[in-house]
Amino acid sequence: MTTIIRKINRSFIDKKTIEEAGNILRQGGLVAFPTETVYGLGAHALKKEAAKKIYKAKGRPSDNPLIIHIAKYDDLRKIVKEVSLKAESLAREFWPGPLTMIFKKEDIVPLETTGGLSTVAVRMPDDEIALALIESGGGYVAAPSANASGRPSPTLAEHVREDLEGKIEMILDGGPVFIGLESTIIDMTGETPMILRPGYITKEMIENTIGKVEEDETLMTGLASNVKPKAPGMKYRHYAPKGELTIVEGPIENVIKEINQMVDRKIKKGLKVGIIGTDETKLLYSQGNVKSIGSRKNEESIARHLYQILREFDELDVSCIYTEAFDTPKMGQAIMNRLLKAAGHHVVHV
Ligand code: TXA
Ligand code: MG
Repeated sequence: MTTIIRKINRSFIDKKTIEEAGNILRQGGLVAFPTETVYGLGAHALKKEAAKKIYKAKGRPSDNPLIIHIAKYDDLRKIVKEVSLKAESLAREFWPGPLTMIFKKEDIVPLETTGGLSTVAVRMPDDEIALALIESGGGYVAAPSANASGRPSPTLAEHVREDLEGKIEMILDGGPVFIGLESTIIDMTGETPMILRPGYITKEMIENTIGKVEEDETLMTGLASNVKPKAPGMKYRHYAPKGELTIVEGPIENVIKEINQMVDRKIKKGLKVGIIGTDETKLLYSQGNVKSIGSRKNEESIARHLYQILREFDELDVSCIYTEAFDTPKMGQAIMNRLLKAAGHHVVHV
């Protein structure tokens, strides 16, 4: 199949392009589109054949449920059984935005979309292109991140092209995304809401709105092999860089010293090595292929570049990558959750 790639300008959205993309969705095809978090791979969420195509294009296990994207709050009622007062408050505060809520699903939502679960994840993205596309595509768009399964989530249309060109009908290229990490997921079906995936919307922000919430205790520790994950997607080793990734954690002077020593040993063995530093530290690494992920003074810049930098190191074919830890004040938990997964929880403390 030939994938149509259309550039689209967020401040002047071309109606014809949206119409063309919406048509594809209504006819059961696949369209990749930007959201504020990462690019999504969209299909009509209420057509089971369409949802199935997503799994095929991504090579995604069929028990890993999809998030349904909506464009209007009132559209939520049709697909979920009950919206609690807390869920309503969260929607009022954070939608449109990078927060996904899990509800009990209505029968109209096919099990193909929810990976066989009786619950459904829903979010309203904060991106004019995404919202226009959802409206035009019938109001309910199932969309996982638009990467091939096992690769980092795409933060540029170019990443989507690398992974999915020839497998989907269309890519809407709206330029780089704003946040760069997937949405926060919170399960609203239990007595106390529980965060299943950390993101831009932090536990503190949520608790300021609805009071106490819990946090899945495996978020930062990884899953023991006998534990069933609460978000099915969390059990998959999401993404492992081709090079072995090691996180070095501790006071920054020690981190730099340790990374320099480890890099030196690898280079003496003739290996190609990558280093993830920051604008503040990149000049302090003496050897290896050093990339700055962003500035510690601007944690958003670190989140925004994480997936891109991991893709770049895959392309360079380094055999190991060393990275500083990024326990930044707000997004640190989300950044470290993704980084720990990519590193298979391989951390050196100094
Ligand atoms: O920011 C985002 O959320 C992006 C953009 C495109 O919106 N989407 C995204 O989708 O990250 P995906 O499929 O890559 O991740 C969805 C996660 C998976 O870990 C999945 O297991 C979990 O959400 N999930 C979906 N429905 C669920 C449900 N009913 N119960 C528990 N976990 C669920
Ligand atoms: Mg994903």
